[in-house]
Amino acid sequence: MAVTRTFSIIKPDATRRNLTGAITKMLEEAGLRVVASKRIHMTRDQAEGFYAVHKKRPFFGELCDFMTSGPVVVQVLEGEDAVKRNRDVMGATNPADAAEGTIRKTFAEGIEANSVHGSDSEENAKIEIDFFFKPEEVVG
Ligand code: CMP
Repeated sequence: MAVTRTFSIIKPDATRRNLTGAITKMLEEAGLRVVASKRIHMTRDQAEGFYAVHKKRPFFGELCDFMTSGPVVVQVLEGEDAVKRNRDVMGATNPADAAEGTIRKTFAEGIEANSVHGSDSEENAKIEIDFFFKPEEVVG
């Protein structure tokens, strides 16, 4: 299986509860390696640009409010089949549907404050990594 990369965000509900380490530990235990990481406070422009694909969705405004409500930790994760591996350990978008032992089942507060984001395809992973990181900031 090829070693690939994916993009992750530890969201404001998780940083507020000091869960950065606990979530990163679950990612690492799932076989993912953090090859880039920074704590930032997203600007409104960044949130709207990052989630542009959801622009027409009714939750878009609230989602951008939430993602700019506090610090987030943006990360690049590397591992075998990284996109799927990360999505498996994250669990379903809605924590009510997430499997036991996943990050969202363990920590998420709701469908919006769902603690983590992860790319849904390798193509989007590349776009999302490039959105937040310069090539020299990713150190494998
Ligand atoms: P994320 O994986 O970051 O991608 C889009 C986000 O929108 C999603 O996680 C949720 O945090 C948020 N969201 C809020 N409401 C909904 C909804 N009804 N359906 C899907 N995503 C939602």
